[in-house]
Amino acid sequence: MLRNLVPLVSTLALTACGGGPDNTAEAEPSGPATETVTETSAADQPAAEAGGDADSDAQAILAALGSDYADADLGNGARQFRRCQSCHTLNDGGRHTVGPNLHGIVGAAAASAEGFSYSRQLSESGLVWDAATLDAWIENPRALVPGNRMSFVGLRDAQDRRDVIAYMAVETAD
Ligand code: HEC
Repeated sequence: MLRNLVPLVSTLALTACGGGPDNTAEAEPSGPATETVTETSAADQPAAEAGGDADSDAQAILAALGSDYADADLGNGARQFRRCQSCHTLNDGGRHTVGPNLHGIVGAAAASAEGFSYSRQLSESGLVWDAATLDAWIENPRALVPGNRMSFVGLRDAQDRRDVIAYMAVETAD
């Protein structure tokens, strides 16, 4: 179902999206679109406030991650995220546990969550968490940032990584 919407949404997102998931609602005014996918009535507001249609919001977020993400399986992403939950919360304002809360991680600068004591290596990495850097991190955190403190073996399967990144992006966009 979501797949039909992708070409249009990705065009809009590429045209107007500044990069972060929070901006995606601005990419939705109908403009020259031939098919209506924007069921949200508040296209000039950020998705967070607009409370717009969940599917089109999610699809715009996925499109902003990259074309590969259009087919992301959010159910599998949620399952994969269970591996992260022993150390990470994802909810807004969730506690830092072994690792930092990951709400809004997509688009954030590395090591920027308030109140978590990061390793120097991650703090000084200069990374910004986009689809590509998250993919590399989740595949092998030690290879991306040697000496960091995330003791996680990595997800070897590229689709599992894609799905968990998509899940984090969609789950924390509101
Ligand atoms: C064994 C505990 C553990 C597991 C499991 C784990 N992490 Fe982490 N994660 C950490 C720790 C600790 C850090 C902070 C690393 C540092 O400061 O060097 C971290 C950092 C991160 C960061 C960077 C956060 C920031 O604010 O810059 C991301 C993104 C992340 N983890 C994603 C994941 C994902 C996705 C999974 C599951 C696929 C996962 N982690 C599994 C412990 C874990």
